[in-house]
Amino acid sequence: MKNIFKQGTKGHDQTLLLLHGTGGDEQDLLPIAEMIDPNASVLSVRGNVDENGMNRFFRRLAEGVFDEEDLIFRTKELQDFINDAAKEHGFDRDKVTAVGYSNGANIAASLVYHFEKPLNGAVLLHPMVPRRGIELPKLEKFPVFIGAGSNDPICPPEETDELEKTLSEAGASVEVFWANQGHQLTREEIDHAKEWYDKNMKGE
Ligand code: MLT
Repeated sequence: MKNIFKQGTKGHDQTLLLLHGTGGDEQDLLPIAEMIDPNASVLSVRGNVDENGMNRFFRRLAEGVFDEEDLIFRTKELQDFINDAAKEHGFDRDKVTAVGYSNGANIAASLVYHFEKPLNGAVLLHPMVPRRGIELPKLEKFPVFIGAGSNDPICPPEETDELEKTLSEAGASVEVFWANQGHQLTREEIDHAKEWYDKNMKGE
């Protein structure tokens, strides 16, 4: 997969996995990583699916209707890619926190739905429920931050509530930050994500 890897500060073992939204690329979330943890290593990945010239992490059949077979295939592809990248770059595979926006948040959530411990934490910015009707792996205390917009037409509040409930029922510890916003990212949301990260991923 096309990607950018940036080595973090010496002695700092956390890696941020950046996953962009539809139509974005591996450059998009670099400033967000800088705001959340400027010392972390960064693995920023470009989605392999091309939807009329827009990069995505998996196919969809319509707006908000996912191609489940492709989602499963692409989730495994991303998981394998992270495993290989950890070997290539020598980062700690057990200390990877995803930061995903929209379509990128959806594939990050899909990793968590399909694999045992694919991440050590997840910042999901405007995510949807990736799949329904499957049992999730045990997520004992797995830390999740969800950034949501109360007027988000793509990820309506019921969808956020359902995702929070499903992850919590599997054992995750989920914090949701609601902004009076739509689908766009806001500074306020990133500031809250950073606070959450410092507390949960760095123990500050
Ligand atoms: C998706 O297809 O993953 C969601 O609808 C969000 C997006 O528009 O990318």
